[in-house]
Parts: sequence; structure tokens; C-alpha cells
Amino acid sequence: MCPPAPTESSAPRENVSLAPFNTLALPGRAGRYARVTADGQLVAFVGDRRRFVLGGGSNLVLTGDFDGLVLHMAIPGRTLAGEDAEAWYARAGAGENWHDFVQWTLARGWPGLENLSLIPGTAGAAPIQNIGAYGLEVGERFHSLAAVDMRSGKTVDFDRAACRFGYRDSVFKREGWHLTGRFVVTGVTFRLPKRWQPVADYADLAGELAERGIARPDARQIADAVIAVRRRKLPDPARLPNAGSFFQNPRVDAGTASRLRTAFPDLPLYPQPDGRVKLAAGWLIERAGWKGRDLGPAGMYEKQALTLVNRGGATGVDVIALMRAVQRDVRARFGVDLTPEPVFL
Ligand code: EPU
Repeated sequence: MCPPAPTESSAPRENVSLAPFNTLALPGRAGRYARVTADGQLVAFVGDRRRFVLGGGSNLVLTGDFDGLVLHMAIPGRTLAGEDAEAWYARAGAGENWHDFVQWTLARGWPGLENLSLIPGTAGAAPIQNIGAYGLEVGERFHSLAAVDMRSGKTVDFDRAACRFGYRDSVFKREGWHLTGRFVVTGVTFRLPKRWQPVADYADLAGELAERGIARPDARQIADAVIAVRRRKLPDPARLPNAGSFFQNPRVDAGTASRLRTAFPDLPLYPQPDGRVKLAAGWLIERAGWKGRDLGPAGMYEKQALTLVNRGGATGVDVIALMRAVQRDVRARFGVDLTPEPVFL
């Protein structure tokens, strides 16, 4: 990637359409919009009150116009920040495309992020919701991040403990900082282990590797298998606008899980280390009759019921109507509440 052009300015523009910047392609305008290409540009916005930090827009529902400042993160940079006997430390500028960054680490022979290939979005957003797929969460490969504290303008480092990662969760979400723009992530460093072990037990991934006749996959082969599975099941936002999984997989207590299993013997259950049990939201949505079903111009995808798609011309209002209808039917059938995964602006 090229370094920022010296003439490039972060001066905000007014009344900018955000439709091209969210993968659900929902309409909405920003009162003010600035494209941020260097850490130093952020200090100019320290006084701003209403702020939203936008990455790849792949986890966002625009509910209408936003009467504040949108900071669109485009800070570039991919470097080897360090190396020791145990690991390589690869750093990404917050604006780097996540998938391209993952492929870059693999091409250099640094394994560890392969399971997270083809996840849309930017590197800076990855730790905010602790992106995960095929048995791996980014928090497991995370070393640290740098962020600008928008109250003081100072740069703060967060190590792994400070991020308090959970399932699709981090301190940034827990404290609501992802909504207020309190800390703006400028760069993220990943710890990529030299004594690498494949993570290849996840059913879809194991099946794809078996079909390819690969018993002991290397990182590149895992990435290729993940890419193939995702292409088969998940719609490409460039062709069919979507925001990936629209709901989190709900976690219930063990008693509820076993009662549900008795009533629905083929219900998939994923026991968690804390004793709770994760359910497959896609399964619940499919069994509630929503797989491949539309409500107005929005619908639940025919190959993965957990993905909400914009069939053309949907607005945030349409998306919310569909979300509520799906939540209502899943609650009526299974007594389980579905929590949306994206951020609503
Ligand atoms: N299932 C159905 N019907 C469906 C979809 C799924 O019955 O329409 C069943 C599957 O057969 C399987 C189970 O539900 O038994 C789980 O499905 P899958 O393996 O496709 O994964 P998921 O739980 O639906 C999660 C993540 C995805 C991630 C995949 C693969 C969440 C909310 N979603 O989906 O993440 O790619 O696992 O690891 O945790 C995202 O967050 O945007 C995302 C795409």
C-alpha cells in the first residue's frame, strides 16, 4: 500500500452519503465525514462530541442520517514489528483490509490468522468485536493495539488483558466506546506463533480438508479451505449486500440447553468452558421458517439463515422490521432471545 500522499488532508466534508461505506448498502448521510490516513490527523477531532468510527462498514446498520462526525479509518501499513524465539509480531494499520493483511502474513510464512481469511472489514475493527471463525478468535493471536484517546489526544496501548476479549466482545464494546468513539484504534499487532499448530476441528473446515485429501494441512491449505467454505455459504457483499452473521449465537444455561435438546433432538449444541451452552442461531432461524424468506426488500439468506441480505433498496427501517420479525418467531418457537451482532448507527 502507498503511504498517504503529503497533500492529503483530513478536513471533514459535509453531508456525505455513507451508502458506499456500509456492506449492507443502506442509505444514510453523515453530517461531517473525514477520511483518516495518518494517526496525527486525529488530534484535530479531539473536541468533537458526536463521533462514529467507521472501518470497513461490514458490521454496521445505518438506521438513517447521522448528525455527527464520521471518522473513516484508512491508515495504511503492514510491517514486521518484531520477532523473538517464540513468534513473529505483525502489525497492521487500522485501515488495512483484513483479508489482504491475513494473506500477506501467510505469504511471508507467518501462520496463525489463516482461519480468519475472507472475513470482511478492516484490521482496526477486528479486535473491537473479536472477530472469529472456524474455531479461532482474533483475540487468540492478538498482541496489542495502539489507539488515540479522543478525550486527551494521547496515544494509549492496549495489551491482550486490557482488551478483555470474549465471544464477539471486547472492552471497547462492553464500555460502549465503539459507539462513542472514545478510543480510535490506529494500529494492531498480532503475535504469530513459530510453533504453529493447525486449528482444523471445526466441522465445515474439517470436511473441506478431508474432501481435498489433506490430513496434515499447512496454514495456506487451511486458508484455501476456509475461503472455499465461505464462498459457498456466505454471500459476497459486492453482489448481495450483507453484514455477515446478523445475530450472535445465543448462549443459554445447561438446563435450558438440555430441555431444548429433548424437544428438538437435532439441535446443535456447543458446550462452553464456563458451563453454558452455545446454540446455532442459523439453525434456530432456519427452523423458525426464515431461511431464504424475505420481508420487503430485506431477507435471510438462502444458504446461511444467519446472514441478513439487502435484496435491493432496503433501508435501516426494513432491516429492523426483519430483525424484529425473526427475533419474535425464534422467541415464540424456542424461547430464546437473539441479539444482533452489528452496530446500529
Ligand atoms: N445451521 C443451520 N441452518 C443455517 C445455518 C446454520 O442449520 O441456515 C447450522 C449448521 O448446520 C451448523 C450450525 O448451524 O450445525 C452452525 O453453522 P455454521 O457452521 O455455518 O456457523 P454459524 O454458527 O452459523 C459462526 C459465526 C460466523 C463464522 C462461522 C464459521 C457467529 C454469529 N457466526 O456462524 O461468523 O464464519 O461460525 O466459524 O458466531 C460473522 O460473525 O459475521 C460470521 C460470518
